[in-house]
Parts: sequence; C-alpha cells; structure tokens
Amino acid sequence: MLPTPVETLPVHRPNTQVWIKRDDLSGLEYGGNKVRKLEYLLGHAVENGLRKVVTFGTAGSNHALATGIYAGQEGLRSISMLTPQTNAAYVARNLLRGLRAGIEFHACRDDSAVKRALPWVRLRHRISDGKAPMVIAGGGSSVAGTIGFVNAGFELRAQIDAGQLPEPDFIYVALGTMGTAAGLLLGIRAAGLTSKLVCVRVVQSRYANPEKFAALLSASAAKLRYIAPAFPVLNEADLIAEFRDEFFGGGYARFTNEGMQAIRIASEAGSPELEGTYTGKAFAALVHDLSVGRLDGKRVLFWNTYNSRPFPSDLGDEDPGELPPELQTYFTLPVQALDAAG
Ligand SMILES: Cc1ncc(COP(=O)(O)O)c(C=O)c1O
Repeated sequence: MLPTPVETLPVHRPNTQVWIKRDDLSGLEYGGNKVRKLEYLLGHAVENGLRKVVTFGTAGSNHALATGIYAGQEGLRSISMLTPQTNAAYVARNLLRGLRAGIEFHACRDDSAVKRALPWVRLRHRISDGKAPMVIAGGGSSVAGTIGFVNAGFELRAQIDAGQLPEPDFIYVALGTMGTAAGLLLGIRAAGLTSKLVCVRVVQSRYANPEKFAALLSASAAKLRYIAPAFPVLNEADLIAEFRDEFFGGGYARFTNEGMQAIRIASEAGSPELEGTYTGKAFAALVHDLSVGRLDGKRVLFWNTYNSRPFPSDLGDEDPGELPPELQTYFTLPVQALDAAG
C-alpha cells in the first residue's frame, strides 16, 4: 500500500515539528519496513519459477514472519532458520502467526549453526522439489532488498513536493541489518533531499557498523547504476549517515527504560504502536535529542518500521507443539521484566 502516509506527531517542544512516516501500513496483511524489500526479493523468486525461499533471523524475527506471509501470497513456501533471543511477548505471537502462514521452522543454536545447516536444508528441498529454495539474506538486506528501499526516498520527495510535509532536517530510523537505512539514504539523496539520516543501532556492532554500511551502500549504488544508468552518481560525502550507539542497551531485543518511556511518549502523541526491540529504541534517540535542544527549530521525521496491521484474532488455534522444541520454550519461559511491566 504505497505511498505510506505521513502524519504530524505533536510533541511538546517549542519550534519543533515532528512527523511520522507510516511504513507500518506498507502492506495490507502485514506492514513495516520488510514489505519494500520483499517486493524485490520475492519478485525475483517468482520470476525464476522457484517454489521456496529460506531466510534467517532470531526466534521472533519480524523479517522472517513478513517473508512467510508474503511468500505465501505468491504461492511460495518460506523456511525460517532462527536463532535464540531474549524473550518478549511478541516472540510467541510472531511464531503463531508464522505457523498460520505455513512457515517451515528450524531452530539453530547460533549463526555458525545456521551456516552449517543451510546446505542440508537446501539439499533436502532440492531433492523433494527439484529446486533449491532461494536464499534471502537476514533482514532482507541484500543488495536487491536494499534497492527495495530506494523508492522510499523518491516517495518522500513526492510527498514533500505535494506539500504534505516540509523537507525534514533529520530523519530517525532503526538500524538492524541496515538495508532500510542504506536504501533510504540512497533514495533521498538521489531524489535531491539533504535531510540528515540518523541511524539508531539496535543490534550488535558486528552486524551494523559504518564500514559494512558503506559497503552495502556502494554495492547497491553500483547495481542501481548498472540497471538504470540514469541513477545519479552520488558524492561519497553526501552518503554519510549519523550512527547512534547509545540506545542499544544491554543487547539485541533487550528492552531499555528509555525505549519503553519513548514508546509511551509516542503513544500519547498519537503514534501507532512502537515496540521495544527496534522502533522504541529509535524513538528514544529522537526523544533524547528533543530534550537536549538539538532539534529546536528543526523539522524531524520518524520513520516507523514496525507493523501496525492487526493479527488474526484466532491465532490461539495454532498449535505451538508443531514448532521445534527450542522455539516452544518462548511460550513457557517468562518474558523480560520490562515487557511484563510495559
Ligand atoms: C520493526 C523493525 N524495525 C527496523 C528493523 C531494522 O531494519 P534493517 O534490518 O533493514 O536495518 C527491523 C528488522 O528486522 C524491524 O523488524
């Protein structure tokens, strides 16, 4: 459902205007940032006559879920290879929704176990189907998935030109596997916008860091110029984003007090629901910057990357017993304290 709307988000700070980009509405069945990437990734699988895709994430991965839902819509089956994470209520919800979408689940101890198991999983499906599943990178952040987000920059430019919002001075976005931020940065610059992109890191720095970000940017820009020679050659100095590390907290998917407080502030301002793993931490950076006066007199856009489409109300009919035992534990272990309190 593109373009996604932009709306104001009233914050109590003189001279600051905050807007929200409602990518939570990007898809009819499930919204969020993954939809823009999957349009390109699943399009490739369909074009090549494939029947299955395999992707990766942690137990509650929004990306793995979105892939399962939209693969299913295209008549494809999705295989999720998932690693452990801190428990939160959304993990069990996403797993049930994944069962409903027909995802084939595999539980792996860590990233190395995923690497070791992947060839076997692909081989098994190749033998049964005649074709190996297409591999979709974690978070969908391959070059093709990143290119899926470039359009978002042009979309924003069109909304500015139509008078729906002024050109933002700052755009805040959560940074995980980086495809969202990298694609968006390429898109806004190609569309002639000068907004500063503030990337709030919510994963370990070995996954998201300026060196990897620059490599993903340049590979994606090179591919774009190959496909569309009219794509502008962008100045390296214009492709520098601001990396923010201080809102990560104790680890991936570990909720923070600042994040939970930011979720409440956003909700009071009329925002769609944010969550503790990604968008709450990204909004915490914005709230912090508001409080120290950095955003006084500025126009700010918060890019909402989380889904707001409701889940089916009868997901309780799904049987967690169909999941690998390691994933069933998310239904019995307590959720982290900040989630329980939130
Ligand atoms: C809700 C949400 N926001 C942000 C992100 C981060 O996007 P990216 O992995 O493209 O950096 C994710 C990734 O899974 C996500 O699920």
